[in-house]
Amino acid sequence: MMTVRFCQLHQLIIKSADLAGDCTPMSRADLWNKRYLDRNRAIPSLPDALQRSLAALPAGRTLDLACGDGAASLYLAENGHRVVAVDFAIEGLQRLQGFAAQRQLTIETQEIDLSAEQSLAALSGEFDNIVLLRYRPESSLLQQLSARMKPAARLLIQTFNLEQHRQTGFPERFCLQPDELSQALPELTLEAYDNGQLEGSVFDRYLFVMP
Ligand SMILES: C[S@@+](CC[C@H](N)C(=O)[O-])C[C@H]1O[C@@H](n2cnc3c(N)ncnc32)[C@H](O)[C@@H]1O
Repeated sequence: MMTVRFCQLHQLIIKSADLAGDCTPMSRADLWNKRYLDRNRAIPSLPDALQRSLAALPAGRTLDLACGDGAASLYLAENGHRVVAVDFAIEGLQRLQGFAAQRQLTIETQEIDLSAEQSLAALSGEFDNIVLLRYRPESSLLQQLSARMKPAARLLIQTFNLEQHRQTGFPERFCLQPDELSQALPELTLEAYDNGQLEGSVFDRYLFVMP
């Protein structure tokens, strides 16, 4: 009983600190590490809306940014992509590697804080696809993406929108405003933008293509 109470209190403190937005990037990584350590051994799965978006990407060298414990990376690797997976939570990356080993998949992982300046500098080469799922990218990250894309490469950004905030109270600062990213990457062609509210979804989806 004491253990249960302690865990509940501990989680409450973590949640409050996270929502208050008074954490340094490293302590946010620690919060995510704690979340991944607390998860059971189940392999993460993707909501159908995200899986449909990934299924439309041609197999190639694919960068999964803010990959977490690998729901998207594992799906992509199983469907013929050569995946480089990036996150700042080492515990998520270690879970991802464990799941990849169980499924005999090879996925490269990199521990990187995506909010840092030139955060992608440590990555080598260019990609056929870049995916950003359930993570709102900072402009410093967005500005680095096109330099990492091959000709005709795709960039998929699908994450929570304001409707998620309204329906669930999920912090607004992690939610995309309507149409927020349409003009954010002028060097890329915006091939599709779905406002999630049209489908009753909480996601906004942007698909950009490198000319
Ligand atoms: C909601 S999870 C989404 C994980 C995965 N994209 C998915 O859809 O299953 C958000 C992820 O972003 C990562 N993250 C948050 N801030 C980050 C940062 N500054 N740099 C790198 N990763 C970050 C967290 O560690 C977490 O794994």
